[in-house]
Amino acid sequence: MIRKILGKILPPKVKLAIVVMLRRLLYSSCATAGGPITAAGKPGTENKWWPELERVAGQKIFASPGIEAQKACADIREAYGPVLQRYGVDSQNFFWGSIKNEEAEALYQLVLDRKPNIVYQIGTFVGYSALVIAHALRANGRGQLVAVDPEIPHRTFINPVNVAREAARNQGLDKIIRFERGWHSGALGDYIGLGLKRAIPIVGLQVLESIREQGIDLAFIDGDHSTACTLTDFFLLKDYLNIDGVALFHDVLSWPTVAQAIFIIWHDIHYYERGTGAYFGLDVRAGQDGLAVLERVAKETFPTMRLELTDTAGRPVVDATVTIPAINFSAISDKDGAVYVLREVPAGTEVKVLHSDYEDYAGPLAQGTEGDYAVNPVTLLPEQQV
Ligand SMILES: C[S@@+](CC[C@H](N)C(=O)[O-])C[C@H]1O[C@@H](n2cnc3c(N)ncnc32)[C@H](O)[C@@H]1O
Repeated sequence: MIRKILGKILPPKVKLAIVVMLRRLLYSSCATAGGPITAAGKPGTENKWWPELERVAGQKIFASPGIEAQKACADIREAYGPVLQRYGVDSQNFFWGSIKNEEAEALYQLVLDRKPNIVYQIGTFVGYSALVIAHALRANGRGQLVAVDPEIPHRTFINPVNVAREAARNQGLDKIIRFERGWHSGALGDYIGLGLKRAIPIVGLQVLESIREQGIDLAFIDGDHSTACTLTDFFLLKDYLNIDGVALFHDVLSWPTVAQAIFIIWHDIHYYERGTGAYFGLDVRAGQDGLAVLERVAKETFPTMRLELTDTAGRPVVDATVTIPAINFSAISDKDGAVYVLREVPAGTEVKVLHSDYEDYAGPLAQGTEGDYAVNPVTLLPEQQV
C-alpha cells in the first residue's frame, strides 16, 4: 500500500530508502517495546551459559584423543585433497563451517571408546565430521551413520552434502553413511529465505522412526544453532537414545544460543530428576568451538502397567477385583476391563482376580514394568455352574 502510493510520486531509489527506513522504525519499536530482550546471541556475543555448564558438568565422558585419533583425522583432511581441487576451494574456506581439528579428534576418540552401532548426525555440511565418524566406525569394525541435512546452498557450495557424498565414495565409506535430506526438527536460522525453508521437508521424526528398533548410541547435533532448534533437535531424539547413549553438541562455546539450549535442557533434566532418578550426565570440552555431551545414564522410571481382563470370548471383564499382594495393590477393572498399575512390578509377580461370574484367577505376570510400559492380558474362565 505505502509502496504503491510512494511508487507513484517518487523515483525507485528514494522509494526504496524510505521503505527500508520505515521498516527499521517499525521492527525496532516492536523488538524494544518494554525494554530490550536479554537473549543469547550468535558468535561474538557474551556466552554466560558456558561457565555455568562447566560448573555443573560432573561426568567424565570425553577422553583425551590418542595418537590413532590424531593420525586418522589428519589423514581424513588429507584425503579431501582431490575434492577440494575439483571444487576449486582452499582448505580455509572448506573447513570454515566444519568442526575444528581438535574437536574432530575428540569425536573420533568418542566413537572409538563407545563403539556405537547407530550414530545419528544433524548437520552434515561438507561431511568432515561425518567422515570422521565413519572412519572411526570402520576402525571399530561395526556401526552405521545416519546424517540429516537440508542440503541448502552454503558459501561456495550449491549443495555441500554432495561434497560429503563424493568424499565418502572416494574413501570407501558410502556403505557406512546414510544421507537423509531435510530439516531435522524445523528451520529457524536466518541463512535462507522462507521459500526454500518451506520447500524442504522436516524429516527428523520419520528418520528417527526408521531406526527405532536399534536406537541411537551416539547423536551429533550440529545443525540449526538457534536456541529453539537446538532444544527441539535434542528433545525429538532423546527418547531414541539407548541407555549409555550420548548426545554430543558442537559450537557450545562459540555459539551462546547453543550453550543456552543445553543449559535449559540441563535445567529440565534436573526438574524431572526429582521424580524419576538421574537420567543424563554432562561433560564439556572447551577447544575452539566447544563441545558438550549428555550421556543417558539410566532409564526414566515411569512404570505403567495395563492389565487387560477378558473372558474366553474376548469380551472385557468389568468390575473384577484385581490384587497384586507383593506390592499391596488392589483395584477394580474399568468399563474396558482394564486396570492400571503405576508402580514398578517385576515379571513373574503374582496377580489375583476375583469376580462372581468367573473362576478365581491367580497367575504370574508375563511382562514386568522395569521402568517402562507393560501390557498383560488376563483371560478369565466362566464360573462352573453346579
Ligand atoms: C555447522 S554446519 C555442520 C558442520 C558439520 N557437522 C561438520 O563438522 O562437517 C551446519 C549444517 O547444518 C545444516 N542445518 C541447518 N539447519 C538444519 C536443520 N534444521 N536440520 C538439519 N540440518 C540443518 C546446514 O545445512 C549445515 O550444513
